[in-house]
Amino acid sequence: MNIIQVSDYQKLSEMAAVIIAGQILRKPSSVLGLATGSTPLGIYERLVKLYQEKCLNFSQVTSFNLDEYCGLDPQNHQSYHYYMQNHLFFHINMDETKFHIPNGLAEDIEAECKAYDEKIKQAGGIDLQILGIGHNGHIGFNEPAHSFLYGTHQEILDESTIKASSRFFEDISQVPTTAISMGIGTIMEAKSILLVASEGKQEIIQKTVYGPIDPQVPASLLQLHKDVTVVYVG
Ligand code: PGA
Repeated sequence: MNIIQVSDYQKLSEMAAVIIAGQILRKPSSVLGLATGSTPLGIYERLVKLYQEKCLNFSQVTSFNLDEYCGLDPQNHQSYHYYMQNHLFFHINMDETKFHIPNGLAEDIEAECKAYDEKIKQAGGIDLQILGIGHNGHIGFNEPAHSFLYGTHQEILDESTIKASSRFFEDISQVPTTAISMGIGTIMEAKSILLVASEGKQEIIQKTVYGPIDPQVPASLLQLHKDVTVVYVG
């Protein structure tokens, strides 16, 4: 693992944006795995700026988001569809047929999950997967569990995750209790991984990087991946 400790959120955002921009410049048809949450916001802002300054071209980029809440309409302001449109897709020249987010309204969730993994495969796999991390070590919505779940699946959200997510909702009762998430296996198949963690995540980063590999800390499996960069504020 390549571990980069930075002093503040601005530097984290800059460092991560540089890594992603480098990936797109090296391979314009890159397949990116994208994350939501508060940490990537500064990164997306910088990528949009690079596009506006004509330094980056997203026209050949394909993307797959990590997860989506079950039961939220894409127009719902708390859905990850809405987040991605608002913070990235509306502002760059990505082809709208090339970005993918799980459909949390799918009638057959299992079929949706299978199809999602199949689409990733058909796109040639993910070149660079961006990950945030929860205080409980979740990546995507892979919550602490007794075993690592391989493929994209429906996840019952941890109480701590629901509480953390409630800051974006009017009321905690509005936070969905399930989500579709890429599995740990789907994430591990990415050719390279960039994990970003902002202030207050030092403890879980230590466990992830130096602790035992344990499904109770889902991110710890990343220790076995051959190309992971961790950028964290510490
Ligand atoms: P955050 O969350 O970026 O909003 O801190 C990350 C996560 O829980 O995966």
